[in-house]
Amino acid sequence: MKWILIFCMALSATLSAETKVLAFSGSTRTDSVNQKLVIEAARLASQMGASVTVINLKDYPIPFYDADLEAAEGMPAHAQQLRQLMIQSEVILIASPDYNSSVPAVLKNALDWASRSEEAGSSRDAYKGKKFGIMSASPGSSGGARGLIHLRTILTAVGGTVNPMQVSVPGAYNAFDEQGHLKNEELKIKLRDLVESTIN
Ligand SMILES: Cc1cc2nc3c(=O)[nH]c(=O)nc-3n(C[C@H](O)[C@H](O)[C@H](O)COP(=O)(O)O)c2cc1C
Repeated sequence: MKWILIFCMALSATLSAETKVLAFSGSTRTDSVNQKLVIEAARLASQMGASVTVINLKDYPIPFYDADLEAAEGMPAHAQQLRQLMIQSEVILIASPDYNSSVPAVLKNALDWASRSEEAGSSRDAYKGKKFGIMSASPGSSGGARGLIHLRTILTAVGGTVNPMQVSVPGAYNAFDEQGHLKNEELKIKLRDLVESTIN
């Protein structure tokens, strides 16, 4: 009986502990379909009980990584803020456009700065022990899936655990309704599965 009680207490502690999720896209475009996609994923995570922070990289303008700049001035303030948000999160959801079969420079630059410490050394603190859920959206038929191969490689190389599942939304300029919800039911289920298996 005592053991059953302890088990129940442990279970309820697990369920009540909110998973901290950070969500952002690799696009700074005003009507970005990737930002729409990551917001949809964030909404699902929030419905599952997670504590979710959604940011837009447009609000975190960061100069291109430059070792001389880093040595002279340290890590730029926005890079520090982004890195700290990543460090404070357990799960990170990223939707990335596919730019010529890779990730946009704005995203790679942000990820590179986040792989540095504020003492100008290499750091894995923003990645190690974090679970990543990755997705993409594009007007093309691949949905930007080719860029996710590079995103997965980058995040894994710096110590992140990337969910083997991923979601790509093709025909993305017509894929969301006025409220920003995915219209396609199958994709919605895939996105839910991705979010659920990343946050749990
Ligand atoms: C430099 C550049 C390269 C691109 N390369 C690809 C590509 O390889 N595959 C693809 O599906 N879309 C490609 N696109 C189109 C993007 O998918 C499209 O601009 C999309 O809207 C970007 O996502 P966003 O709406 O979230 O900004 C490219 C766009 C740019 C600007």
